[in-house]
Amino acid sequence: MLTPGTTPGPLGAGGYGNRLAFERDRLGFLLHQRQYGDLVRFDQGMYLVNSPDLAEEVFKHTNTAYVITRDLLGDEVDGGSASADLARWMRARSLAGHGLNRSSVRAAEDRLAATVARHADSWRARGGIDAVPALEDLSAHLISEYCLGPEVGRVPELVARLQDARLPGTVPLPASCRFLRRRRLHRAGRELAREVSRLVERRRTRQDDCPGVLADLLLAACDEGAITHEGAVGIVMSVLFAAHETTAAALAWLFLLLDRQPEVYARMLAEVDGELAGRLPTAADLPRLVFTEAVVKETLRLYPPLWFLERTVDRPTELGGRLLHPGQQVFVSPFVLHRDPRHYDRPTEFRPDRWIDRPAGAPLPKYAFMPFGGGQRICLGAHFGTVAMVVATATVVGRHRLRLAVGSAPAFGTDSSVLQPRGLRLDVGAREQVPCSAAAGPRPLGR
Ligand code: HEM
Repeated sequence: MLTPGTTPGPLGAGGYGNRLAFERDRLGFLLHQRQYGDLVRFDQGMYLVNSPDLAEEVFKHTNTAYVITRDLLGDEVDGGSASADLARWMRARSLAGHGLNRSSVRAAEDRLAATVARHADSWRARGGIDAVPALEDLSAHLISEYCLGPEVGRVPELVARLQDARLPGTVPLPASCRFLRRRRLHRAGRELAREVSRLVERRRTRQDDCPGVLADLLLAACDEGAITHEGAVGIVMSVLFAAHETTAAALAWLFLLLDRQPEVYARMLAEVDGELAGRLPTAADLPRLVFTEAVVKETLRLYPPLWFLERTVDRPTELGGRLLHPGQQVFVSPFVLHRDPRHYDRPTEFRPDRWIDRPAGAPLPKYAFMPFGGGQRICLGAHFGTVAMVVATATVVGRHRLRLAVGSAPAFGTDSSVLQPRGLRLDVGAREQVPCSAAAGPRPLGR
């Protein structure tokens, strides 16, 4: 049990040593500090959580003892447990959550594959892609259609522009740079809001045969006086923003992993061909794409897009035997928890079968697998995100072969809150013309 004042830290918890070590190798640092225990003091005001049980404590008490003080764009917000911002967001969350869980989700899921196929065919025509931006564009289209229906106007393009303008979450910048970037960010945000607003309003007179999308539900809530039009626009923007970068990063890792593991690729291809026989997947196919779903899950385990989650202590609270004070910060890293040898056999290996053959009677602790977070602030798109990944993977693999481009040496991108294989370039070729045996390319990423 840890007691006040004795919490160990890797390089002594008081000074800058840990910060320097963290800046040198963020993921390596986090993995290394696991040896110091379940709750590690990073510096005077910051703690790292290394056990699923303590993570559960933090997530169970988020919105009360712990709060989130950044919005989805990385801006500081008053997330205090008694704040109006939090109350407003929780109401918005509940409305969007209904939208994301209703029966029309199924119809939206059925439309996903056609959009993926269109994008994948254009990649093939180009011969290759810069994986992260191309997959962000795909994800932005998928989520825009999901929120707004088939008419998405300039939304995907404006999401990309806002993304570009965003302040990197963890890199400190001089004040003058911060000001300029913030101005760009707000301008891009306003432009996106205008376009979303126009498209939400257009849903009132829609001609398409598309069953209700999130915007329709929000318009109904506006008519009942439950939210304002601006509130509805804000919800769509939050969902767009939370969804596109995470889903894209996860897919980029997945295609990299498939390239590295020809036997996994071959099994997935056999499943996709066997179950779909050349047609596009629909929601009804998902229960049979068992191996594909295991590949998605194993990708999210090894490379969880949100690699660390941040909470601020809002009231004096005890965690793992230590008294935490308001203003202190607690970090939970899904990346670290997902690689804990106490919970995973050969944790650094990519083994999708671990999700299929898991022995009965050995359940994972709830927070040993948490790519979508947990508690009251769990990801709103956990279901949709998983479905989108399975459909996108099955669609792409069924049509084309994605291979690491010669000379591409992806590196861990950890300078924002989303973990990406930065610099990943993929050749996109015809399935038949790319033999599996040629799969051994450079293996740039060590972890
Ligand atoms: C593979 C894809 C995705 C991953 C790995 C992911 C992961 C996460 C995680 C870990 C959180 C919690 C952050 C925290 O606790 O601080 C979160 C929040 C959120 N996610 Fe996702 N997400 C994904 C896709 C999506 C999609 C597709 C949507 C919408 C359709 C979505 C909407 C949201 C929203 C709105 C929040 C904020 C919840 C809140 O603060 O109350 N995400 N996501």
